[in-house]
Amino acid sequence: MTQFFKYLFLILAISMFSCTSKSKTLSIKIDDTLLRATSQYTYLMDDLPKGRFPKTYHEKDDKLETSGSEWWCSGFYPGTLIYLDEAQQTNTFTKEIKRVLGNLEKEQFNTSTHDLGFMMFCSFGNANRLNPTPEYAQILMNSAKSLISRFDETVGCIKSWDSSDDSYLVIIDNMMNLELLFWASEYSGDKTYYDIAVTHANTTLNNHFRGDNSSYHVINYDKTTGDVRNKKTAQGYADESAWARGQAWGLYGYTVMYRATKEQKYLDQAIAIANFIVNHPNLPEDKVPYWDFNDANIPNALRDSSAGAIIASALLELNGFVDAGLKATYFHTAEKIIETLTTDEYIAKEGSNGGFLLKHGVGHLPQKSEVDVPLSYGDYYLIEAMLRYKNKL
Ligand code: GLY
Repeated sequence: MTQFFKYLFLILAISMFSCTSKSKTLSIKIDDTLLRATSQYTYLMDDLPKGRFPKTYHEKDDKLETSGSEWWCSGFYPGTLIYLDEAQQTNTFTKEIKRVLGNLEKEQFNTSTHDLGFMMFCSFGNANRLNPTPEYAQILMNSAKSLISRFDETVGCIKSWDSSDDSYLVIIDNMMNLELLFWASEYSGDKTYYDIAVTHANTTLNNHFRGDNSSYHVINYDKTTGDVRNKKTAQGYADESAWARGQAWGLYGYTVMYRATKEQKYLDQAIAIANFIVNHPNLPEDKVPYWDFNDANIPNALRDSSAGAIIASALLELNGFVDAGLKATYFHTAEKIIETLTTDEYIAKEGSNGGFLLKHGVGHLPQKSEVDVPLSYGDYYLIEAMLRYKNKL
């Protein structure tokens, strides 16, 4: 018996030591990667044409592709700069953040997009979190107002995409825009924002998910009855496939829903999505997903580093809401993703990749657009995941 306890103690001591030394090694790697990100973003900043936002980079012709402030990704660049200065307690990007927020500001009144959460909360939301000002708050409140102008009572959802016919299209990505509404409700004391976020999440819960808890990308609703007309994909492999970034948005979105409401059904959904991902037979050993879990070309399909980064960040938050068994699974999956994404296979060499940090993202493969390229949101969520990981240690 004594011998048995000695062995048990030895095994526990070895596994604790290997866990600690693994975390230490990864933590050092994260610090190096944050430094790399700072030098990359300094280079990107110097290359950025006035009034434009970084979108992606084409290695073939060494071309930085940019967008205007109305593009759904415009908040990621300032958000990334804010995270980098916050993480390193520096003011490297203070001037650039101010400049670029000034260019983004007008989008607070944009009612033609559902992406205002991505655009305004990743940027002004982070700026206001670190340095709350009445000006930032007003911009966020106006953004929230613009976002809820797209809500329809009968459907019970915020419309994602406008269409020329009577389609009412809602995509799973839209779950990411709700965090802005929770902020607005708390700041203003007006529960309308909260109620719309909850209604949207409930409608999505009812209609977007399959029996295995994977999600469809696009649901088309009948605006007059609120009934589902059809369920499709736009960016995935097939209507019935599990597009990796869509699963990542759902996971992140329902984790935020639980954080904001403490409603058990949202935690259950976040866990169900997480388990679909972590137990999927097509999730590779290194845990960075293929761009779609059901691409028939797997294992010869492309990976999507952006989906990996979003999943890692979401799992690290969800890890704080679950019991011991799942806690360990989610932590170790996120850790493995970060470990993989911080290798040379995924991290850009200094001065390459157009100044972006992460390589191998897949934007819209069916349209052959942004395939195997850097993506501003890949960088943003990888940096967020690394910061969340370090905070957990
Ligand atoms: N929200 C668009 C995307 O995930 O590509």
